[in-house]
Amino acid sequence: MDSLRQKVEALSLQINDFAITDAASLEQYRIQFLGSKGTVKDIFAEMKNVPNEQKKEAGQLLNSVKILAEEKLQHYSNLKEAASLKIDSDIDWSAPTNGRIASRHPLQIVGQEINNIFGRIGFSVAEAREIEDDWHNFSALNLPEDHPARDMQDTFFVNKNPDMVLRTHTSSVQVRLMEAQKPPIRSIMPGRVYRNETISARAHCFFHQVEGLYIDKKVSFADLKQTLYYFVTQFFGEGVQVRFRPSYFPFTEPSAEMDISCQLCKGKGCSVCKQSGWVEILGCGMVHPQVLRNCNIDPEEYSGFAFGMGIERLTMLKFQINDLRLFSENDQRFVSQFAGAR
Ligand code: PHE
Repeated sequence: MDSLRQKVEALSLQINDFAITDAASLEQYRIQFLGSKGTVKDIFAEMKNVPNEQKKEAGQLLNSVKILAEEKLQHYSNLKEAASLKIDSDIDWSAPTNGRIASRHPLQIVGQEINNIFGRIGFSVAEAREIEDDWHNFSALNLPEDHPARDMQDTFFVNKNPDMVLRTHTSSVQVRLMEAQKPPIRSIMPGRVYRNETISARAHCFFHQVEGLYIDKKVSFADLKQTLYYFVTQFFGEGVQVRFRPSYFPFTEPSAEMDISCQLCKGKGCSVCKQSGWVEILGCGMVHPQVLRNCNIDPEEYSGFAFGMGIERLTMLKFQINDLRLFSENDQRFVSQFAGAR
């Protein structure tokens, strides 16, 4: 091991000392150290002489010298690229730009803000696949085959396979989390979801959701209300009012939908809130004991809440956008309005 360490040190010195001054010496460097017969390759052959219990340490040592060699190559390759760009093109690098400032997509701005708000109260971010099996999208969530509530979400099947779907909600990530982790679990799950709906100003075949899940001992509906109230006051400002209406989801019991006072007319009544003064922004409830059981969590010991909301809906309310299609058309005139927005 000591002799290997010495060899690695010697090789590191050689790498550091090798002077790269032009394209030819760059190529020479590459061949000498990183080529198929290069010294870095050679030194890896020493692995076979290392006793098993030291293999891990030796591997790390060898990797460190490989990374050193590769980083130097990358650095000088980048320089070469930049230099040739300058020489080979007529670009005047000192000319002022056309003044167009890049902007983030509004869904990205809002998504990030949601992550930040929940991050402040201890929620981590979880992500998973968009193509799901029946179990994670439906069955584990208390939606067995032939359950009428499956029709609440028009599903895209993959290759006509009844077992593979484009996820219709990110509740599938909740199932994956509960299966993989012991409570306490406190996460939000942002991501794209798909539903077979006719595209219009108010519906699209894909959109983004953020769902949340909190499971621990003695989690109550009061915790759910406080968490969501904290979220909307952070997101929309202190003046916002909320109300909960009883609702139904197969995976939560009791279930509710939460409305906020309309941010456009401040509750007076307008076309966005259909003159009611309230807009629905999310579904929520206490995780159904059967869902916990399906994910090997004992409902006698643990309870939890879950919620789910559409990121487009929140973004439309926040930035007063009136057509869902704008989000996916990539029209510069739309996107550039968000330069500097937070
Ligand atoms: N999964 C539901 C939907 O997509 C939202 C939801 C999540 C409702 C969690 C309740 C609890 O509509």
